[in-house]
Amino acid sequence: MSSEHAHEDAPPLTEEIAPGTAADPAVGGTERATVTVDGTPVTVEAGATLLDAVEAVDTDEYVPALCSYDRQEIGPRSECRTCMVETEAEGIVPACSHPAEDGMSVSTDAEAAAQARDVNLDLVLSNHNLRCTTCGKNGRCELQDASIEQEVEEPRYGVLDERDEYEPLDDTSSFIQIDRNKCILCNRCVEACNDVQVEGVLRMEGSGQDTRIGFQSDAETMEDSTCVSCGHCATVCPTGSLVEKGIEDATTIPIPGFTQKNSVGKAIESSGETKGPMTPKKRDTDRREDPDAAASTPNAPSADDVATDGWAGFEGGEWP
Ligand code: SF4
Ligand code: SF4
Ligand code: FES
Repeated sequence: MSSEHAHEDAPPLTEEIAPGTAADPAVGGTERATVTVDGTPVTVEAGATLLDAVEAVDTDEYVPALCSYDRQEIGPRSECRTCMVETEAEGIVPACSHPAEDGMSVSTDAEAAAQARDVNLDLVLSNHNLRCTTCGKNGRCELQDASIEQEVEEPRYGVLDERDEYEPLDDTSSFIQIDRNKCILCNRCVEACNDVQVEGVLRMEGSGQDTRIGFQSDAETMEDSTCVSCGHCATVCPTGSLVEKGIEDATTIPIPGFTQKNSVGKAIESSGETKGPMTPKKRDTDRREDPDAAASTPNAPSADDVATDGWAGFEGGEWP
């Protein structure tokens, strides 16, 4: 069998990991195309979406794209609908997932498209714990940027501000804090974890109002999941839902006792057990699959070390 044929037969990695991972279909155009955006013609490469065309032009209207990442094969999910534009042929469409086809004409400033973007941004905000002053992503948050650009003063549907309804903060991991009250379900983290890092830790779980970020291992907390603490999910998260530990309060207003954690009011705390950046479960799986690599890995604690004292001897940064 040729290697090319073998490649064709191989299932996508995501199918081997678990349900809930992303396997987005290709959404871009099949050929190079010239599209007119707000009267300005722009030529984009094969595979481009209308969002690529919009971003190539200095448009009058700001077009957010909260659930689109457009790098590393992540997204788009067509989830947030904050990127709506008007096309001559098909009316209002999400720019992030509509192929750019030759001859298309797009308006970002059409009244109906601007209205759709406004309403959809307010819908995202309505389910969001909008406490920017205690948020680790304050000042580097795409939702905050979009709200400022769209001049949102009072979201028409309100914001999630009922502390009784807040999900507890998952503060159990030494590396990443999860605040699901700020998740916009963009799925970027799930794709980064499964499709880019190929770790298979995160997934979307539940449905409807109960949809949330969860773990493929059915773990309840980040600490108990198979997370290897690579941090890729926090890097791609557009909001303060996944934040690197150590800087979770870095952008909080400097008032004593004013923190991200007490903003939410309830948190699941770490068990206190010391762990390395690779959880024992993941490490053991790797060792079973490749004993030679495990044996030759410098600074890896032996199975006995782990059984008796966990990661007590771990020196940060030495484990791959
Ligand atoms: S994630 Fe944080 S900074 Fe971003 S809008 Fe929400 S509260 Fe504000
Ligand atoms: S945790 Fe962040 S990256 Fe993941 S779905 Fe929620 S907002 Fe998106
Ligand atoms: S960015 Fe297009 S639907 Fe979210």
